[in-house]
Amino acid sequence: MTVPDKGTVPDRGRGGDRRVIRVVQGGPIMVQGPVSIEMPDGSTVNSDRFMVALCACKRSKTYPLCDTSHRGRKKIVRREDRI
Ligand code: FES
Repeated sequence: MTVPDKGTVPDRGRGGDRRVIRVVQGGPIMVQGPVSIEMPDGSTVNSDRFMVALCACKRSKTYPLCDTSHRGRKKIVRREDRI
């Protein structure tokens, strides 16, 4: 019997384990690594990380990998600027 790793669930229909892909609301898609990502232009992006964040907002400068650009900037309001 196979004990599933963290992040996987049993694939009872085929006898293997399934990878869990987690979609973060307003953020990236988290995928267990390592991964090879085939791009539309035929290139391949590799990541050997344990968990890989794939950009879903297309704002990343390292697309298809998330660089946290989805977070945007928060405006800092100083106390003296408040009404
Ligand atoms: S989802 Fe993080 S930069 Fe796009």
